[in-house]
Amino acid sequence: MKRPIVYFAGTGRGVPATVMTNFDFAKIGIETTDEWIVERTGIKERHIAKTESATDLAACASRSAMEKAGVHPGELDIIVLGTASPDRLLPSAAVDLQAALGASRAAAFDIGAACSGFIYSATVAESMIAVGNADTALVVGVEKLSAITDWTDRSTCVLFGDGAGAAVLKRSKHGKGILSTFVRSDGTLGDLLCRPSGGAARPFSTDVLADHSQFIKMNGREVFKNAVRSMSEASTRALDAAKLTGADIDLMIPHQANIRIIEATAKHANISMDKVYVNVDRFGNTSAASVPIALDEAVEKGTIGEGSTVLLVAFGAGFTWGSMVVRL
Ligand code: ACO
Repeated sequence: MKRPIVYFAGTGRGVPATVMTNFDFAKIGIETTDEWIVERTGIKERHIAKTESATDLAACASRSAMEKAGVHPGELDIIVLGTASPDRLLPSAAVDLQAALGASRAAAFDIGAACSGFIYSATVAESMIAVGNADTALVVGVEKLSAITDWTDRSTCVLFGDGAGAAVLKRSKHGKGILSTFVRSDGTLGDLLCRPSGGAARPFSTDVLADHSQFIKMNGREVFKNAVRSMSEASTRALDAAKLTGADIDLMIPHQANIRIIEATAKHANISMDKVYVNVDRFGNTSAASVPIALDEAVEKGTIGEGSTVLLVAFGAGFTWGSMVVRL
């Protein structure tokens, strides 16, 4: 096991005020039932941003993480932000956050790894700290997926939610922190979960708006199979690299897409469900935000604390997947 170079100094979250339950879909003309959604996904409700921007959510999560870490915006060297739903396509969501926080010294940039965005971003931040390019990093996962969801497509619109989670990462002086990381991707499967239009290949046009191809399209069954396989692999790889087994883990925090994916991943990692954090029932799939929101909740509830060993694992569009073992 390597000696940790970087530790999590504080976490935070920011979620929209409005809660949409499974029963609310009837109000917007979607033919679905609470029973169908709960049985297939475990989701009961999600937060939807009505007035909040992605930047607002990210800033709320970041301020909370910085307060707990005792870090001022001016001390941040880098802001690394994972998102698939930035407020605007240019410039990056990270620089909008930098401006909102007044983090005048920070280099700020986005990471495009969809639901694996927080783990990818934390891995990049760890590396930049390790080589001496930064001492203090703000790592954020934020999504306003409601803005890129097709609200007429019942196979996808029931799955997603909005929110943000953040962590301050600092150089470790006390032997705690990130014990291992693992990240992978397979772009040959990119079409299984994508937004076909709105990018440079097929820019916005009246045709695009008419066929709704600017929104998320997904082959649910294929995504499900790959998510289980890849999150299982990622769990094993991070545990092996840290020279640990599932029995050594105090809490597994998986990406919250679907309770069945979470259960299958935990089984593979040999971690019982009472040591797995689940909040997909209350937030739905918040993509890059799901792991840091869950991490912050688990810390706040006292489920984990100083000395706990935590396995973070995620999978998302790309496909991308990744994992991290952290000693808090
Ligand atoms: N309510 C009621 N019926 C529905 C709904 C809905 N919201 N959505 C689809 N159906 C119907 C379909 O029309 C279909 O009907 P038919 O048989 O008459 O054609 C039937 O339900 C079965 O549809 P499937 O898509 O085959 O259902 P499946 O059992 O695969 O479940 C689901 C769909 C929940 C999306 C599942 O495939 C899944 O969880 N996939 C993982 C995808 C995921 O989590 N993606 C998140 C993004 S990626 C990530 O974060 C990892």
